[in-house]
Amino acid sequence: MRQIMVAANWKMNGLSADAVHLTRAILDAGLDPTHPEVVIFPPYTLLHVVAQEAKASALRWGGQNLFWEPSGAFTGEISGAMLRDLGCRYVLVGHSERRQIFAETDADVARKLSAAQAAGLIPIVCVGESEGERLAGETEAVLQRQITHILPYVGTGAQPNLVIAYEPIWAIGTGQTASPEQAQEVHAFIRGLVAGQSEALAKRLMILYGGSVKGNNAASLFAKADIDGGLIGGASLQAGEFLQICRAAE
Ligand code: G3H
Repeated sequence: MRQIMVAANWKMNGLSADAVHLTRAILDAGLDPTHPEVVIFPPYTLLHVVAQEAKASALRWGGQNLFWEPSGAFTGEISGAMLRDLGCRYVLVGHSERRQIFAETDADVARKLSAAQAAGLIPIVCVGESEGERLAGETEAVLQRQITHILPYVGTGAQPNLVIAYEPIWAIGTGQTASPEQAQEVHAFIRGLVAGQSEALAKRLMILYGGSVKGNNAASLFAKADIDGGLIGGASLQAGEFLQICRAAE
């Protein structure tokens, strides 16, 4: 009953030629156009390149971040309306790199969720514990705190108004993937927290896994009951590897 999504987070990588190459590789691969839904998150500077290449296809694209104000004197920031103007359907919110390097708080994440939804974007909001928190047995407490700030934005209608990505920080860019069992356990915990608010929305909520997903481990992750696809970093910059992940979700 849930859609499956494979999302490519290019982070701060790539120039125009790379964007054309990677986008065309996905478009030319003959993937099932609807299953999984494939979404590219390029740097802002490449959104128009991806949009130009992908506009007549089922491929979607989105922003890696946004600011919560709609416009004004906020040098260097980007609004939800600006992302919509470039044809974005999605936006990443609260990626751990934003939380850790740019000191975004749970309250900031909540403001960004609100702004994204107000602009007509679907936020993909990232949560996850650090290695120290996991070793200290605090994984569930950390997730509970993060999810509590997200719950007001899950929605009240038939479909959730956001997607959640579980990204254990210790697995991001390290090659140390969470095992399918570890990831499933946390995904089920997150779905349970959302079910506390709405069983129906929890059942429909997409929860992606992110953290060192590769072509050779994607299928075993995606096979788990509560894992609805992946948010892919490093492997999304290599066309062959990324397509292998997409095929594991078909
Ligand atoms: O947004 C993507 C995640 O941070 C995962 O990155 O696949 O390079 O570990 P990674």
